[in-house]
Amino acid sequence: METGVINREGFGGSIPVEKVQALASKNLKDIPSRYIRPEVEFDVVSIDESYQIPVIDMSKLGHDDEQQKLHLACKDWGFFQLINHGVGDEVIDKMKIDIQEFFELPLNEKLACAQLPNNIEGYGQAFVVSEDQKLDWGDMLFLLPRPVPLRNMRFWPTIPPSFRETLDKYSMALQKVAIRLMRLIAKNLGTDLETFASFFEDGTQGIRMNYYPPCAQASKVIGLAPHSDSTALTLLIQVNEVEGLQIKKNGKWIPVKPISGAFIINIGDVMEIMSNGEYKSIEHRAVVNPNKERLSIAAFHSPNISTMIGPLPDVVKAKEAGYRTMPHEEFVRLTISSKLDGKGLLDQMKL
Ligand code: OGA
Ligand code: NI
Repeated sequence: METGVINREGFGGSIPVEKVQALASKNLKDIPSRYIRPEVEFDVVSIDESYQIPVIDMSKLGHDDEQQKLHLACKDWGFFQLINHGVGDEVIDKMKIDIQEFFELPLNEKLACAQLPNNIEGYGQAFVVSEDQKLDWGDMLFLLPRPVPLRNMRFWPTIPPSFRETLDKYSMALQKVAIRLMRLIAKNLGTDLETFASFFEDGTQGIRMNYYPPCAQASKVIGLAPHSDSTALTLLIQVNEVEGLQIKKNGKWIPVKPISGAFIINIGDVMEIMSNGEYKSIEHRAVVNPNKERLSIAAFHSPNISTMIGPLPDVVKAKEAGYRTMPHEEFVRLTISSKLDGKGLLDQMKL
């Protein structure tokens, strides 16, 4: 095994299944049973529209009040919306346009970017590991834009022609926001800003572009099954006006109402571990609309590959460490094997 660099192949991939967009376009009266999830109809969804995730104003961070608000958002919610983040509308809007154009292409053109065996990047489905596994009502294009030297352009669309440049700009802009947030989070956790930010300077960034077709039996399927993000910090935007993201709080699913132009940010497993459980990685899912397609873009940020994954020494000073510490590469392997075994990653990291 090479040191310092994750070999991005051999991580296992997904069993190929039909693209849901193609399946949805057949307008079947009864959708295949692999997509039907009887349990979804019994889930409790909050109807209190005023119960919403906190909103953090990035232009006010650094001031004590907003800084404290950020701390509570990370601690009590694990989710917040970030406004005034400084990323230009043109960067976000162009990304939205280009990914919509990609998903509008005929299937065989999209297949130029299809997932390959033993590879996690590409156009396809999230982790299908067995022939009888239930399937999500959605397709995705997953790419790893950072670190830049490890890009695998094989999976990057060439149509629309501006796609690669657009994603490059989007990737860079979001990495900057993520690192700025890391400094502010470090301050709240009482750890050294520069050291903490440096873990993310040449960190790994994955970008998952989700496409959820409409479904006549929307209440019986799930766009993206409940999960927590295994990385440190996720920055998500909804591409069109269709809602679908829900987060789990006190046993209920709370629908998120995206603020136009804001990023929806959430704490992932790596951040929960580094904060020694002070911040929690919250379970969330995407539901499907009966009439309209829905698109979203999630950008996942992790530390660089030489960072040890474990509770930060400054954070555990007063308490005992609640999680194991291991090299990043071993952590990534554990992430993948826990998915294969259907085991909770965090449970395996807990001491
Ligand atoms: C994800 C995710 C939610 C959404 O891609 O990890 O949680 O709204 N997406 O698409
Ligand atoms: Ni997620």
